[in-house]
Amino acid sequence: MCGIVGYIGNKQAAPILLDGLGKLEYRGYDSAGMAVFDGQEIRIAKAKGRLKVLYNMTRGGGTMPGTAGIGHTRWATHGEPSDTNAHPHSNEDASIVVVHNGIIENYMKLKKKLEARGYQFHSETDTEVIAQMLDYYYRGNPLEAIMKVMHRMEGSYALGIMFRDHPGEIYAVRKDSPLVVGQSPEGNFIASDVPAILKYTREVYFIENEELVCLKADSLNFYNIDEEELQKEPVTIEWDIHAAEKGGYAYFMMKEMQEQPKAVADTLNPRLKNGGIEIEELGMDEEELRAVEKIFIVACGSAYHTGVTAKYVFEGLARIPVEVDLASEFRYRNPILNKNTLVLIVSQSGETADSLAALRQARALGSRTMGIVNVVGSSIAREADSVLYTWAGPEIAVATTKAYSTQLIALYLLALKFASARGTLRKEELQTMLEDLRQLPEQISLLLSHKEKVQKFANRYLAAEHIFFIGRGIDYAISLEGSLKLKEISYIHSEAYAAGELKHGTISLIEEGRLVVAVLTQPELYKKTISNIVEVKSRGAFVMAVTTAGNTEVEKVADYVIYIPETNPYFTNSLAVIPLQLFGYYVAIGKGLDVDKPRNLAKSVTVE
Ligand code: M6R
Repeated sequence: MCGIVGYIGNKQAAPILLDGLGKLEYRGYDSAGMAVFDGQEIRIAKAKGRLKVLYNMTRGGGTMPGTAGIGHTRWATHGEPSDTNAHPHSNEDASIVVVHNGIIENYMKLKKKLEARGYQFHSETDTEVIAQMLDYYYRGNPLEAIMKVMHRMEGSYALGIMFRDHPGEIYAVRKDSPLVVGQSPEGNFIASDVPAILKYTREVYFIENEELVCLKADSLNFYNIDEEELQKEPVTIEWDIHAAEKGGYAYFMMKEMQEQPKAVADTLNPRLKNGGIEIEELGMDEEELRAVEKIFIVACGSAYHTGVTAKYVFEGLARIPVEVDLASEFRYRNPILNKNTLVLIVSQSGETADSLAALRQARALGSRTMGIVNVVGSSIAREADSVLYTWAGPEIAVATTKAYSTQLIALYLLALKFASARGTLRKEELQTMLEDLRQLPEQISLLLSHKEKVQKFANRYLAAEHIFFIGRGIDYAISLEGSLKLKEISYIHSEAYAAGELKHGTISLIEEGRLVVAVLTQPELYKKTISNIVEVKSRGAFVMAVTTAGNTEVEKVADYVIYIPETNPYFTNSLAVIPLQLFGYYVAIGKGLDVDKPRNLAKSVTVE
């Protein structure tokens, strides 16, 4: 879970590397480093801390002349964040340097073998083993050495490599960690993600598993693991470069929250056609939709929470059984799958290691699979039988907002598609629901325009130590997301509970002044949750309620009420989540925290 970048061309490499690393800091930011080759010597600079430490240390790259280089921003896996553990790593005389994203699972075994042959190690990382193994196998031919090392490594990696014997060349390879190659008249690039190089080129190649590329200033050569040369086609990236910048907001998270109306509309509108839903990339006809006997929704974190909501929607509308699993659990629980099950993998990045492993397991067990993915060309998108893209655009803040909102939309559309195919929804009902969906972007905008009301309330809770979120049914799913949003960026302990479950233990934690956020958007469960509010109120809780406009009765029991516009009860999550995102954001901002880069977290979790 790191970011790598590389450049070779006719410009100075270091400033380009620093710039690219800045775009990749969301992938890890506990240390950064780069190696720059001037044709004679490979200079390495690396430092614990944010990228600015490296920037200052190298005077913006000015102390590292050379037109070829590789860079890295790290999220520690093996070995604590430190100068020594920071990448690049090298062999003893620094004639081979490596940057790595991923984990080498058998590195201890490989390290022991090398130590027995006299190799010495200076860091605690698995990456240093790669550099030393390359040294061991290198006989003057980089391709041959890299292939030999690939055959011996187990785990995941995207690597950028330079050999002092081969000035004018950078090598890159990947297995289960993302890697793109960019080409331009001024030179060629590697990166873990497109935004790192978007400023320089829009022509990219997505590198597949176990493919290797040799970059020179004016050429690219691709190989498979058998050293056979490959022909690859470039893809033109259409993203607007400004979409990857903060766009005037203090934080990406606020920018991305504000982008939700557009992201939701972009994901929804192209699929509303001819009075119905048309999902071109679905890859399943009506008969195939009817043949599905059970759906599994598998994901991590917030993406998992969209699955919890979707279970209610699919089961309620399409009358099809749904199980929702955390990907890290699913992959080890021996699920019962067959050709009539559909496994939906929901993932913004499309690279989450557990979700990817769950997808592979589902395929191996004979199930049909579908990815609901935001990053085009990501591993999950490529490996699933079909993919339904969310069109949220690049999401930089670690806390997901717009990707979450678009995942909900994709799942609603799919549920409605299933319901139509299976005849569980009348045409008129479908039309009314589609109309409700069309209203969502505007309703989200309205909620965002009242953000100051949430901010005022949030400012009263900057010193809170514990906050509870409660709700029933879909309101419980919303509570899960509200609670995660708050805790991941504000560091306040928080839990979400099915409101009826509180009295089975957790209510003992309710005491004078404890904030309880209650979500009440489901008409059938409204009165039940009101009773749960009364229970916590009578034990001293302060209650903020999020409910649908018109539910004024809640004002009699709650201390503070936020109303969301009316919509179909199946879609309320898309609206109720907005004040909860804002609440988490403003509490964190009020505490002076960096909401885009919360401690201990990274945007893309590409390790198990
Ligand atoms: O890229 P993914 O959607 O697969 O990521 C899944 C989770 O890691 C992610 O949703 C995480 O929980 C977010 N930080 C929540 O804001």
